[in-house]
Amino acid sequence: MMKHIVLIGFMGTGKTSCGRMLATRLGCGLVDLDKYIETKESMSVPEIFAAKGEPYFREKEREAVREVVQRKFTVIATGGGTVKDEENFRILKERGVLVCLTADIDTILQRTERRGERPMLDRQEDRRKTVETLLENRRAMYARADFTIDTSRLSPMEASEAIVGFLRVGGYIRA
Ligand code: S3P
Repeated sequence: MMKHIVLIGFMGTGKTSCGRMLATRLGCGLVDLDKYIETKESMSVPEIFAAKGEPYFREKEREAVREVVQRKFTVIATGGGTVKDEENFRILKERGVLVCLTADIDTILQRTERRGERPMLDRQEDRRKTVETLLENRRAMYARADFTIDTSRLSPMEASEAIVGFLRVGGYIRA
């Protein structure tokens, strides 16, 4: 069975936009985990956080991981916190090749500027400090990816081309 392509990494590193490009490029399906949850819950992620709290969102995220890996070859764009859960990490690692997108802090701050989309950042006053702390806490878990790419200075197209190159060399795709 072919392994899924799983994009992991912090908010604002380009998982959704690269995921879209990659799926088009590879001619396969795309699941954006946040969107998948939003559709199932008929609520946006910020609404879920506000109405039901983060633990509820994480529970839905765990369910979503278990469901989407059952599909045939798919690009899976995860949320920034998805692989913080060890069991999510284990399942995704077993069923997929993990590609971690990174970006420098300024790029992350700029890309996540729009309010009302990122409950992990919106409630905080000092966004830079919050991003720094979260990044520090999450660095080790993102580092367990099979391949890491810094997207700070790349367009989604350029980033996905680099990912395709890696996937080809690693024998994960033939395209
Ligand atoms: C989160 C990242 C978000 C979303 C939720 C929590 C996180 O996804 O899943 O707001 O804990 O880092 P993106 O990385 O797509 O913004």
